[in-house]
Parts: sequence; C-alpha cells; structure tokens
Amino acid sequence: MDGEVRHLVGLLLGTEDDWPRAFEHLVAGLGPVPDGTGRRHTFATERLTIEPFSLRSKPRTDLVIDRLAYWYYHPREWLKKVALMDDVYLLNSPFTFQAMEKHAAYCAMMRLGLKVPETVLVPYKNPVDHDKYAFTSQRYNQPFDLDAIAAGIGYPLYMKPFDGGGWRGVSRIGNPDELHRAYNSSGEMLMHLQASVDYDVFARALSIGAETMVMRFDPAAPMHSRYRVEHDFLDPATGIEAITISRVVNAFFRWEFNSCEMLVREGEVYPIDYANACPDISVTSLHYYFPWAIKTLVKWTVFCLVTGRRPRLDTDMRSYFEISDRSDLDYGQKLGAYRRLADEHFTVGEYREFCAAHLGDLDQRVLDWAAGPEFDRLIVDTVTATYPEHEHERFIAHVRGLTGLWVTDESTRLSSPA
Ligand SMILES: Nc1ncnc2c1ncn2[C@@H]1O[C@H](COP(=O)(O)OP(=O)(O)OP(=O)(O)O)[C@@H](O)[C@H]1O
Ligand SMILES: [Mg+2]
Repeated sequence: MDGEVRHLVGLLLGTEDDWPRAFEHLVAGLGPVPDGTGRRHTFATERLTIEPFSLRSKPRTDLVIDRLAYWYYHPREWLKKVALMDDVYLLNSPFTFQAMEKHAAYCAMMRLGLKVPETVLVPYKNPVDHDKYAFTSQRYNQPFDLDAIAAGIGYPLYMKPFDGGGWRGVSRIGNPDELHRAYNSSGEMLMHLQASVDYDVFARALSIGAETMVMRFDPAAPMHSRYRVEHDFLDPATGIEAITISRVVNAFFRWEFNSCEMLVREGEVYPIDYANACPDISVTSLHYYFPWAIKTLVKWTVFCLVTGRRPRLDTDMRSYFEISDRSDLDYGQKLGAYRRLADEHFTVGEYREFCAAHLGDLDQRVLDWAAGPEFDRLIVDTVTATYPEHEHERFIAHVRGLTGLWVTDESTRLSSPA
C-alpha cells in the first residue's frame, strides 16, 4: 500500500516552554519514515488548548504527550474521552494515574515483593469537612496509639500524604514531639508513616517508553543540581535492578513517561516514589541528560505511531501476581520474570530494531543540534525565564557547561567503533 500517513502529535502543556520547543524542533526535522509496507509516515506537532468539547467529537491528534492531567480535571477528562472513544495513544494511562496514587502503588509493588519500606496508613487527624463523615468518625474511628505505631516503625521516620507529590506535607520525624506536631498539623491530609532508609545513594530513573536513564539524584540540592552527572555510580547488577524496577512499575500500571525514585543501601534497592507522570524534564533540571530525554521522546513517539502500537487500556496485574505469589522463586528470580513481562509489554527488541533501521541518523542530528546555535538560544531563553536577572549569567554558564560535556561525550561515543 503506497501513500503518505500524516500524524499529529498533541502537547498538553503547563508553564514549560523549553522541552516542547526542543521536541517540536526535532520532530519538524524528521524526514518521512517508511513502515515496510510502502507507506511513508510524516509528523507534525501542535500545542493543544483547553476548550469545551462534545463527548462525541473526533480529535485530530494520534498521540498526546500530557503534562497537565495530574493537576487539572478538564484536560484529564478530555484525555480519558480520547482514550476510551478514539484510541488516541497516550504515554501514561490517565485511568491508572488517577486510581493508583502513591498508596495503591506501594501496595501493588509490595505484593510483587519489592523492598518498599514499612508503611502504615493512619486516619485523618481532623475529620473531613462533611457532616456525615464527622458523625461517622465520631462513632466508628477507633482510638489509636500514634506513639506505639511510630515506635514499631522506628525513628527517624517519614510522614507524607498517601497521594503525595511535590514534597507537599512531607516531614522527617526524629522523635515523639515532632511526630505529634506533624500529625496535628496534617489536618485533612491522609498520612502514611514510613520507615526511613538511611541510603548510600538516591537513584532517580527517568523512563520514556522502552528506555530508562538511571541518574544519581540529590533531593536536598537546589533544582539545577539535583541530577548529578556521574556514571557507574551503581554497580552493574544494582543498575540493572534499578532499570528493572522502573520498567516493571511502568508496564504494570501502563505508564510510559514516568520517573521512579529508589534509595540504595548496601546494594539493596528500596523504591519509595514511583508515580511521577511526565516529570520535570526542563533543560535547567536535566541539563546533561536533556538531549537524551528529548531524543528518546521523539524516538518512542515515532515508533508508536509508525508501527501502529495500540494503547493498552486494560492492565495485566494478575500475570504479575501469579509470579509474586509463587513460593518457589526468590526475589531475583521474580524480578527476572517480571522483567520479561515488562520487556514484552514495551516490545523492547522491536523498538531497538526499529530505531536502528529507521532512525539511524537521529543520534548525529541531535548531536549537531545540541552543539549548535538553536540549542544555545534555548538555554539562554529558559534560564532567562526561570531565574532572576542577577543569576542569569551564572546559570547560563552552568547549563552550557553540562550540556557541552554531553556534546563532548556523545561525539566520542559516536566516533568510536561500536
Ligand atoms: N522512606 C524514606 N526514607 C528516606 N528518605 C525518604 C523516604 N521517603 C521520603 N524520603 C525523602 O523525602 C523526599 C520526598 O518524599 P517523596 O518523594 O515520597 O514525596 P513527594 O511528595 O512525592 O516528593 P516529589 O514530588 O518531590 O518526589 C524524598 O525525595 C526523600 O528525600
Ligand atoms: Mg519523590
């Protein structure tokens, strides 16, 4: 079958301008991509706006990259509509993201045997503002001994909302006084108490489709230096385990653009936060890793559209539980079995072959772009928009330096024999 197939990629955006601009630039430079049946696929992008829509209207987009649904209901409901009615490809399932807050995600991964730290859910400090709930809680909420629960977990511990995000309401608790102070001020937030992991290394893994980048992370540092440029900071087996955990989480929940936070102590990996849909990938945060992220977003988008990958609306949790419930397999064997399911879900082999066959020149194009004036303008514009004037010079130098380091490393990689 001959002919051209045009695809429109929609972007649902908030305040960010840098990665969308980078993505649009790289997509605009893509030549037609053949699919092996004689058809040629071309791509355009569009920033979507929020407006009334009929539930029976037909969207023009084939795939949407979304950064809004977690925060706002209107775009979230539009995404659900186009997923249910129109088979639009979404990188993250809005259904599981809504249902699987941190709490449910902890439960599911605990059942898989992952080393989620000991976690207890305690009732609201203040009843939610609703007559019936106040009545119900007065009648049925059992008194409980917060100190005894905390003592059972051990200090220091973390108190954080069951549906957390953006550090809202997170506190590290060192003693019973702090415990009561934090609980008393939790109000109507529903809280977990979680054992703290005294980690050697914090690893944050950014996954986009079939690829994952595990980065060393310092949560206490300011935004621009949280991701550290450090290679081989995990031994090879732990690095593979971190990739496996991230990929399994994503396959299990049908998420494809997500980051997973893991604490590593003495070679053991403890996942603590892994529902971060469409995480911050700004050039000022990701710096060195930014070209990789944008390139991978382009590759995964093109792969999904050209191969006609169907969005998987249903989950397949039972097949993971069938492995986790077996008593004859140890942790490593279970992880290996989950990894096979996850790799199948992401069609990792097919993706690699596709990229090698059809996107072979993208590495060089991204390198040329990252070394060129367009990219430098992106850095200057983003820093100018993000930081106060007296910090511009310093941060432009910072981002230029780290992305320049990527350019040097990538040039070496591309010029060395495979
Ligand atoms: N069990 C734990 N052990 C050690 N440190 C922890 C633990 N839980 C949370 N932290 C620390 O608190 C930070 C915030 O916790 P968490 O990631 O769960 O909350 P969040 O609201 O999702 O934050 P964000 O959106 O920034 O990721 C973590 O980055 C980590 O530094
Ligand atoms: Mg976190």
